[in-house]
Amino acid sequence: MIRFNQSHRNKRLALHYPSIHPDLKKYPGLMIQMLKFHKTLLDQGCWECQILCFPRYLCLLWVVRLDLYCLNISNGVCKETEYVEQMPMDITALKNGPPNFGAIVTGLDIVNVSDNDVQALEVAIDRYAVLIFPDQNVTDEQQYAFSSKFGTMEKATGDINQNSDRRLAMDINDISNLDKSGAILARNDRARLFGLGNMLWHSDSSFKTIPAKYSLLSARVIPDFGGNTEFADMRAAWSELDTEMQSECMDLVCVHSQLYSRGALGFEDFTEEEKLKWAPVKQPLVRQHPSTKLHSLFLSSHIGTIEGWPVPEARLLIRDLTEHATKPEFVFSHQWKRRDLVLWDNRVTMHRARRYDHTQKRDLRRTTVAGDARLLSA
Ligand SMILES: [Fe+2]
Repeated sequence: MIRFNQSHRNKRLALHYPSIHPDLKKYPGLMIQMLKFHKTLLDQGCWECQILCFPRYLCLLWVVRLDLYCLNISNGVCKETEYVEQMPMDITALKNGPPNFGAIVTGLDIVNVSDNDVQALEVAIDRYAVLIFPDQNVTDEQQYAFSSKFGTMEKATGDINQNSDRRLAMDINDISNLDKSGAILARNDRARLFGLGNMLWHSDSSFKTIPAKYSLLSARVIPDFGGNTEFADMRAAWSELDTEMQSECMDLVCVHSQLYSRGALGFEDFTEEEKLKWAPVKQPLVRQHPSTKLHSLFLSSHIGTIEGWPVPEARLLIRDLTEHATKPEFVFSHQWKRRDLVLWDNRVTMHRARRYDHTQKRDLRRTTVAGDARLLSA
């Protein structure tokens, strides 16, 4: 599979704007050579170059730009293409984290992925649960297009802003401290206070009837310090529970709502409409991954109680389990760089954001792949 890096793409784009080279007429031999190169490219199937070379081939006799790109072609193969071919997608496990938890993906431009790439990534997600894609300079639309290759997409119905107050489209969860105009939210702004709930350990959309499968978070603007996202491996947390605790947890049903997670921080200023929108839903405490068949704890700060249990006793157990599941041996912390994109599997992980200077901008944007089906029958 041929892949193209950004510089190659820029050079190809440059071919859209040919200029008449003043010296061309002095070198008819060179002109013929270039014609041959382009013809050979067409014949040998450098498929992506063909698209742009073909119109140039037609007008080559009078419009040519003698740039390095043209001189970088030999034997019918673009040298830069050869170079990029030597850098296929690479998926490397994180070195300083729990085993088989978190990996870095390089050699992939998420704007240009094949079906084979997607399949390879799905295998990697099943193994590592969290994938980090550095240096992905994407638009919202490109992020959404990449995300949608992994399944049906969620709408951002978990956000608190009404449509008229939203900064971003409903396809994008606004994980920022910015208002509609792009200004930093005031310290006591309702949207900011609601967003602080992201700093509690949670699994995205566990408060929805069908909880999320994957989340993809893109860092557009990051503060100078802080604001890491931490991830915890719920598979390891489950496997390290003793058998007595495992059997106690196995058939329990938890009740999830954003009203609970925000309420835990003292944010209880909900409208009747919001109370209706985020009415509690039931989820199993233990779930099994459909591909790997591994069990994991399905914990989240959105849990308010356990079905059939007194609330204080339920919350104590959930607190105990959360303390266990977020011990250092199950956790790694991602320090964001601008243009990072991080993908995680909410079915087997929890995550939380960490504190940062609220007077600095932090603009992260999340697309969310919906789960396949509800986990409990209605
Ligand atoms: Fe989240």
